[in-house]
Amino acid sequence: MLPPILQNLRIPVVASPMFIVSGPDLVIAQCKSGIVGSFPALNAREKDGEPPLLDAWLTRIAEELDRHNQANPDRPAAPFAVNQIVHRSNARLERDIEICHRHKVPIWITSLGARVEVNEAAHDCGGIALHDVINNTFARKAIEKGADGLIAVAAGAGGHAGPQSPFALVQEIRDWFEGPLLLSGAIATGRAILAAQVMGADLAYIGSPFIATNEANADAGYKQMIVESGAMDIVTSSLFTGVSGNYLAPSIRNAGMDPANLAEADASSMNFGSGSSKAKAWSQIWGAGQGIGAVRGIEPATDRIDRLAEEYRAAKEAVSRR
Ligand SMILES: Cc1cc2nc3c(=O)[nH]c(=O)nc-3n(C[C@H](O)[C@H](O)[C@H](O)COP(=O)(O)O)c2cc1C
Repeated sequence: MLPPILQNLRIPVVASPMFIVSGPDLVIAQCKSGIVGSFPALNAREKDGEPPLLDAWLTRIAEELDRHNQANPDRPAAPFAVNQIVHRSNARLERDIEICHRHKVPIWITSLGARVEVNEAAHDCGGIALHDVINNTFARKAIEKGADGLIAVAAGAGGHAGPQSPFALVQEIRDWFEGPLLLSGAIATGRAILAAQVMGADLAYIGSPFIATNEANADAGYKQMIVESGAMDIVTSSLFTGVSGNYLAPSIRNAGMDPANLAEADASSMNFGSGSSKAKAWSQIWGAGQGIGAVRGIEPATDRIDRLAEEYRAAKEAVSRR
């Protein structure tokens, strides 16, 4: 049984947080279209001496969604989520938790580390906490530390993907966990959303297809590369952040490197002190998951979500006809 906050979505989808790419424009469009929108807290970066941008973003999101709900009581906006990178190098974590707590953020997504106090802060302001994991051991630890739900990040996902098949990962977690379970990795069609549910997940967690939307904060060349690329163009490497992640091979080639011969980096080189590991050095290296073959153009997020909703409806009908 899903917690009330995750019930009544238009389709069972949470749009995942993406470094740099996800900001208030995208989140507001996603929520207004009926799916959970999210962004990493670290994306809100003010200049030295300025007031916290995270504060301003949360105020704007709440106000715009409120206005939408008053004007459209028959199709209210979905709730939004904020992602916290729980890594020792994230020097802003404590401050960002305080801001999110003050704004009563309804859904907290934690990555890279499970910590009791982050889950407690989420619960204390009436929210829920979802933790992303790449295997069953991390899944158990996250629940022991007080997370309400899990995001199973399977092979093929954009960003820091896991190595496991979604079938294996969902099966092992569902063996003991009855709470909210999201599946992440290369989900880009209505059929795939339904497949995630048939496998045992409650909701699909979708990132890369939203890079090629008008509202995404991404270079025009990045959006176009998503449109032109498919699964064969995705390479896995640890070089750019210190942990294994999935990237667009053409962007690596454009940066003068051979995607087939990348050096390995070790996890100790991860650093989120200034936002993300080696962010500046690798700003032209673009991340994406294997599902992008389904992305045919750059369009408003609401059009992409309408299509997913129609495909999902048609997939259910087709399955019941069979
Ligand atoms: C460009 C990019 C940046 C990402 N940044 C983050 C991040 O900052 N925090 C996080 O928890 N996940 C991040 N992710 C992972 C996503 O949350 C999610 O697991 C993934 O996008 C799902 O796979 P898909 O892209 O194939 O749909 C990122 C993914 C991409 C593609």
